Amino acid sequence: MSDHPAMRRAADAAIAYRRDIASAQTTPVADYAAMLTAFAGPVPESGGDPDAIIAELIDKATPGIRASTGPRFFGWVIGNSHPTGVAADWLTSAWGQNGGNLIAAPAASAVEKVAADWLLDLLHLPAASSVGFVTGATVANFVCLAAARSEMLARAGWDVEADGMFGAPPVEVVIGADAHATVYSGLKYLGLGAKRVKIVESNASGRMIAGDFERVLKACTGPVIAIAQAGQINTGACDRFAEIAPIAKQAGAWLHVDGAFGLWAQASPEKAHLTAGVEAADSWATDGHKWLQTPYDCGFAIVRDAEAHRRAMAISASYLPPAEGAERDPSAYVPELSRRARGFATWAMIRQLGREGIAHMVECHSEIARHMGERLADEAGIELVAPVELNQFMVRFGNSDDLTLATVRQVQDDAVAFIGSAQWRGQWVMRVSVTSIATTMAEADVTVDAVIDAWRRVRG
Ligand SMILES: Cc1ncc(COP(=O)(O)O)c(C=O)c1O
Repeated sequence: MSDHPAMRRAADAAIAYRRDIASAQTTPVADYAAMLTAFAGPVPESGGDPDAIIAELIDKATPGIRASTGPRFFGWVIGNSHPTGVAADWLTSAWGQNGGNLIAAPAASAVEKVAADWLLDLLHLPAASSVGFVTGATVANFVCLAAARSEMLARAGWDVEADGMFGAPPVEVVIGADAHATVYSGLKYLGLGAKRVKIVESNASGRMIAGDFERVLKACTGPVIAIAQAGQINTGACDRFAEIAPIAKQAGAWLHVDGAFGLWAQASPEKAHLTAGVEAADSWATDGHKWLQTPYDCGFAIVRDAEAHRRAMAISASYLPPAEGAERDPSAYVPELSRRARGFATWAMIRQLGREGIAHMVECHSEIARHMGERLADEAGIELVAPVELNQFMVRFGNSDDLTLATVRQVQDDAVAFIGSAQWRGQWVMRVSVTSIATTMAEADVTVDAVIDAWRRVRG
């Protein structure tokens, strides 16, 4: 029997990569064009030796691998792909389980059920909620909104799964002005229309203004889906759920929360005040691959009304053995039938960190973000754009788009740390995301020194 040298090579290379990551440069990496040149070529006419193929893959890809699992990576909102989650993910691939069916994959289905219960417990959400294991918050938002659409139309006497959207009672969608772009994707996929929304004004941190939420909801006439947010991508701000959830309930609206990273504040006794009242919503989208540190891809679509969730997503066919009795059918909560068994890595990461470890990480990251923001704002010409509430924050340099973008470029070129840019209220900012378990206060200080140094050179 083969001992699979290709698998051994891949494991050795992966272990070596993660061993050396702390000292790896954050940028520059070979760019997309260079990578295309490295990989391009005609379709191979014949197969090859597995070990040689993997050696070639490592050789070609390595220059273009961004060190996003390193300790000084603050771009986008990217978790660490924790080694324990990665190891579980290797096994997921090696076992080759199809996560969609509990007869085909009993272990995968059971671990998903247990991980789902653990998630609800950690996030303090209603224990009877259903959880779909999806690729990320984008699809989680879509799935939750599909359940919302199903239920709100059912209440209006319309079976959207059977009869579609043509002729359906119009569903109104109410959404905060600083919602994430991917929520609009969900609305697009569902025929609810990305432009057919009623916008609620937000404050300087991107949080919906409760009074305006109430005003907009009162002006709605048909079935309403209201979309709130735990963790604005630029500011980390969470809507005030204790204020808005009762307003949504009073209006008979379905309240959905996009909590891609911010919902994890619920797991920390110190930070849970930021999401107080969120458990009163009807559905929640969050990610594993951000603050839970699972490898990509991993997200969770959580719905209070499990029946509405199943109505929107369940798949049945004569050749698929159905779940019986109290069994949980893993494909009933996600858009795909065949899929990756994401429960293994989720279970492994919760097992790795535990309730205390997750809370500690959320608190540390928030403290690191606050410290970085304060230190940067102490430097002449650097301005904190909004108060640091959680793990995401923005700074601006010399109150100028050009100087801000030049500083971001300089930081990236210096390659001590990676931080990206974004636009906020029409102005360019440097956006810092503290989401990786590899990041420590010491690494944050090295990063702040590098940013200040870059700014001083840009400023001249
Ligand atoms: C608030 C928010 N919602 C949704 C998403 C989309 O998540 P994903 O990229 O995991 O699909 C993100 C990604 O950063 C986010 O920050």
